[in-house]
Amino acid sequence: YWEVDKNVDSIESYPQIKKAADLLKQNEVVAFPTETVYGLGGNAKDDQAIKKIFAAKGRPSDNPLIIHIAKQEQIKEFVEEIPAVAKQLMEAFWPGALTIILRIKRGVLSPYATAGLPTVGVRMPDHPVALKVIEKSNLPIAAPSANQSGKPSPTSAVHVKEDLDGKIAGILDGGSTGVGVESTVIDCTDQMPTILRPGGITIEQIEKIIGEVHLDAALTNKEAKPKSPGMKYSHYAPDVPLFLVKGTKERLKLLINEAKQKGKKVGVLTTKEHENYFDADYIFACGKREDLETVAAALYEGLRSFNYKDVDIIYSEMFPETGVGQAVMNRLMKAAAHQVIE
Ligand code: TXA
Ligand code: MG
Repeated sequence: YWEVDKNVDSIESYPQIKKAADLLKQNEVVAFPTETVYGLGGNAKDDQAIKKIFAAKGRPSDNPLIIHIAKQEQIKEFVEEIPAVAKQLMEAFWPGALTIILRIKRGVLSPYATAGLPTVGVRMPDHPVALKVIEKSNLPIAAPSANQSGKPSPTSAVHVKEDLDGKIAGILDGGSTGVGVESTVIDCTDQMPTILRPGGITIEQIEKIIGEVHLDAALTNKEAKPKSPGMKYSHYAPDVPLFLVKGTKERLKLLINEAKQKGKKVGVLTTKEHENYFDADYIFACGKREDLETVAAALYEGLRSFNYKDVDIIYSEMFPETGVGQAVMNRLMKAAAHQVIE
């Protein structure tokens, strides 16, 4: 567990970063901060390193990992060809919260990292610690979110410790991550670019650069089979039932009071604007409704916090699906197993 300053600018002055990079070169797995969530990194070329990642997380083996790079030229090693739209996206959003799916060059990366697919997801994170570790390791680094599979992604080193302590070689602690939800995943292997997972970079931002994009059918129809293997797993769920409540705060208050009258201990996921309005057993104010980026930043901390509180049921506000609100609602719907009180 090594603390590092988020504003690290010199590798040499941070022995922790060299230590982490050395461990990666020795095919050990190390957690580090990115601007979205903490990642659990390993050498993407080595089967043993990748197996350690899957084992530590308890992750299903058919769910491919995102490959993280520090410099664009690293891609050439393991990608066949970069289509023009992918180049535009890299230009506009890298380093940043956008994962681009491309066709793979066979025989370079561990097939365990890509779950044997002919494609690979690549991203250049926008975090000085992540970039320095990757650069220093001189490797493509496979890194899923550093949580136990099924739990909310970690937005602080404490969350990583909660889930993976004793199972990994180390954690670089760079404080809280900024964005708070994972990267947007966009498939650029077909004619029409398709969003597979909404995330930190918004669809509005993407369409400004490359024009109209498709949304994977699974994002709007829960019966459809997602193109991104990871999207089919239930995720982010707290240990007790979570319901999303449509409509006004008055309605939410009514539901809370009804549940309390039935003797239930009630938790509420709300926002700064409403936190004093409800009478519940535990209230988490998840950022400001007026600023959805603050909601995204606090969402996973909030979802995790319910597991440490004595509640039987959780009610949550819903959010407009604009900007990063799309990612927030995608994660909340999964956490609630699509249970919405209309
Ligand atoms: O922000 C992030 O993306 C974080 C940080 C650590 O970079 N990483 C992350 O990784 O969220 P993970 O493994 O938790 O999620 C990766 C997602 C999964 O849904 C996976 O199925 C999808 O990306 N994915 C990876 N490679 C893919 C591919 N070749 N085709 C389709 N989906 C892919
Ligand atoms: Mg994940």
